[in-house]
Amino acid sequence: TKQKLWGGRFTGKTDPLMHEFNQSLKYDQRMHSADIRGSIAYAKALTRVGILTKAEESKMIEGLKAVGREWETGEFKAEPDDEDIHTANERRLSQLIGSDIGGKLHTGRSRNDQVATDMRLWLLDEVEDIVSSLKNLIRVIVERADKERDIILPGYTHLQRGQPIRWSHFLLSHALSFRYDLERLQQVIPRISVLPLGSGALAGNPFNVDREFLAKELCFQSLAENSMWGVGDRDFIVEFLMWASLTMTHMSRISEDLIIYSTAEFGFVKLSDAYSTGSSIMPQKKNPDSLELLRGKTGRIFGHMAGFMMTLKGLPSTYNKDLQEDKEPLFDAVDNMSASLKIAEGVIATMEVYGDKMRQALTMDVLATDLADYLVRKGVPFRETHHVSGRAVALAEAQNCQLNDLSVDDYKKLHEKFGDDVTQVFDFEASVERRMAIGGPSRKTLDRQISVLRAALE
Ligand code: ARG
Repeated sequence: TKQKLWGGRFTGKTDPLMHEFNQSLKYDQRMHSADIRGSIAYAKALTRVGILTKAEESKMIEGLKAVGREWETGEFKAEPDDEDIHTANERRLSQLIGSDIGGKLHTGRSRNDQVATDMRLWLLDEVEDIVSSLKNLIRVIVERADKERDIILPGYTHLQRGQPIRWSHFLLSHALSFRYDLERLQQVIPRISVLPLGSGALAGNPFNVDREFLAKELCFQSLAENSMWGVGDRDFIVEFLMWASLTMTHMSRISEDLIIYSTAEFGFVKLSDAYSTGSSIMPQKKNPDSLELLRGKTGRIFGHMAGFMMTLKGLPSTYNKDLQEDKEPLFDAVDNMSASLKIAEGVIATMEVYGDKMRQALTMDVLATDLADYLVRKGVPFRETHHVSGRAVALAEAQNCQLNDLSVDDYKKLHEKFGDDVTQVFDFEASVERRMAIGGPSRKTLDRQISVLRAALE
């Protein structure tokens, strides 16, 4: 007789919309291999406590592997009562090996510890891929920075020209955000890698399964030390979503910079065709859709984080079906995060950089700080030199010329400490090279930044 896994105490039928509403197989089937792995380990643990004979264990493992293969090849046929991946796999297992053996798999186990285990296993695999994609992104930025250090451009604050910097310095500023994202993600891993299996429905396992054995089998770093916590905790998902939100915030900021730099008005960079799209009406358009989507995905991922926090808020202890709502936000965040990292890597690897345009944007006023510093080096207090330099800027503005077009006499009139060597201030290269304190844009300090980042990638 066909019946729902939990059908024993029921006499009435499920409402059709409720059936649909409850069913998670459509999205949780992507955890099929984690579910099979978890079940194989659990079958072994059951054998060790005498629930399964050795022969039953091998039949069970063979059956589970066969179910796994059906998923891999696309042959798996879901049935209407397959509520989720766990019920689907168990139902199929019993069809393949008979329910007299298959029916023993769930002894002492609950979908509550099962699903929490599957989610963690699944996420651990994904995080491994994400770590390597993030490293690739950082690597591409660092490689460009290494090659393009001759290019100087204005650095901006408030999007107003501020001081000259090297293009590499700009790139590395973003790489450094991603470097800390990498560190943060690696720090979340031990908290994902906590094994709930053996927590049962909520009150633990009555057959004394060896949970340390289970953890070893499934490569978990530690055990859920409390069964109620084990089935009810989803903080690892929140942490991942928080991580993703912050990382996407960094993604959004570099995207915004590059979108602005790719306008005709700036013309500092041009995206490759591979990462741009056109307009359906304006033939001349080449739009930075890749970067705009990266910026846009940030809102979506942040939304998953905020939304799932709302799901958790006010839940009573242990498992509640609300927790099934962990999947879609997590899966979507993982998919979009993974894609975003690869797209960002591609955009940055292939974009054209126009050093001459950056050079042209370097107006002499970005050396006004250097002009003030010149007088500082002659012993004048900075607060005074700031004013003097400001007056030079105003004078140049009034004469509709650049700071280096003012005569040495003009400068001497502005302050007695100005000498003929004031002309040496008007050199962008010299300006960035003077900034050689650790963290600055000089060649030497770029070398240091690059080696620090490379070390983080090892
Ligand atoms: N599909 C469920 C989920 O994703 C599995 C756990 C169901 N447990 C239960 N007691 N109904 O959360």
